[in-house]
Amino acid sequence: MAKQRVLSGMQSSGKLHLGNLVGALQNWVHLQDRYDCYYFIADWHALTTGYTDPSALQESVRDLLVNFLAAGIDPDKSTIFIQSKMPEHAELHLLLSMVTPLGWLERVPSYKEKQQELKDRDLSTYGFLGYPLLQTADIIMYRAHYVPVGIDQVPHLEITREIVRRFNYLYKEIFPEPEALLTEFPKVPGVDGRKMSKSYDNAIYLSDTPKEVERKLKTMTTDPARVKRTDPGDPERSPVFQLHKIFSSKQEQGEVAEGCRTAGIGCIDCKKVLIKNIFIVMEPLWKKREELLRNPDQLQEIIRKGTDKAGKTAGETMGLVRDTMGLSAY
Ligand code: TRP
Repeated sequence: MAKQRVLSGMQSSGKLHLGNLVGALQNWVHLQDRYDCYYFIADWHALTTGYTDPSALQESVRDLLVNFLAAGIDPDKSTIFIQSKMPEHAELHLLLSMVTPLGWLERVPSYKEKQQELKDRDLSTYGFLGYPLLQTADIIMYRAHYVPVGIDQVPHLEITREIVRRFNYLYKEIFPEPEALLTEFPKVPGVDGRKMSKSYDNAIYLSDTPKEVERKLKTMTTDPARVKRTDPGDPERSPVFQLHKIFSSKQEQGEVAEGCRTAGIGCIDCKKVLIKNIFIVMEPLWKKREELLRNPDQLQEIIRKGTDKAGKTAGETMGLVRDTMGLSAY
């Protein structure tokens, strides 16, 4: 039996960090053996909010690609591509725009929320309103069954499903209704204790050097009530301990928690264990990143192959869609 299809993408608006690694990429890697996976870099989506200054876009696309591969997305198993290399997505986006009521797009919660959050940008554009529609085109182009995403993307998937139902009802049942594969993972705190995010300037980037990672972790916030080395602390109030829960063994977690509560160890001792464990995860990644960055031809080839493969499926889908919508007279 053919494997079911999974598709997911990441917007290329900045560098990837540890939160993206444990929250998404590692999960994508696991899915590769069970599903026919399509993973892509959404550079058009990056322009919906970043259109005034595209100067960092190329670099971000490269960072994402290199990190996808370094994290273990395997071009022999998965189809890896870049959105803007697939003009079919733009065509499908256009055709979907014919059947999508404006109100559906205006009601997606992220529409108003992002406008509030990014008040300094003019997001009263057609492209930004169409963000979830473009995302819909990305997904249904490959007639994907599952879309691994975080909880924040669920409203986007809801509108995708609505549009699919409408399309299938108006014309012909071409598209399966995709389902979210919710990725459950612990919240990854940044070095200031808030959620790790590029907009908070608190992230540990996959492209950081070992020295930078060490420095960031050494100065990371701990239990604010533990001022002196001799004060006992509460590990549950320390973001460092939250990272231990993700990266350290149960035994180490027990040891640092006990040491913290009894003031048996200092914060630096606790962080040393964490640094060791984060390095265990990052070292192979750093090695692979370096290798890949030394081989631009190899990256080019991977993208060429992925674009070809994605193009085949996209071509089939667009054939069906054009037929269905009366666009194949000649
Ligand atoms: N919106 C996603 C993000 O913020 C990126 C994305 C674009 C996506 N198209 C998609 C995710 C299709 C899943 C499926 O990163």
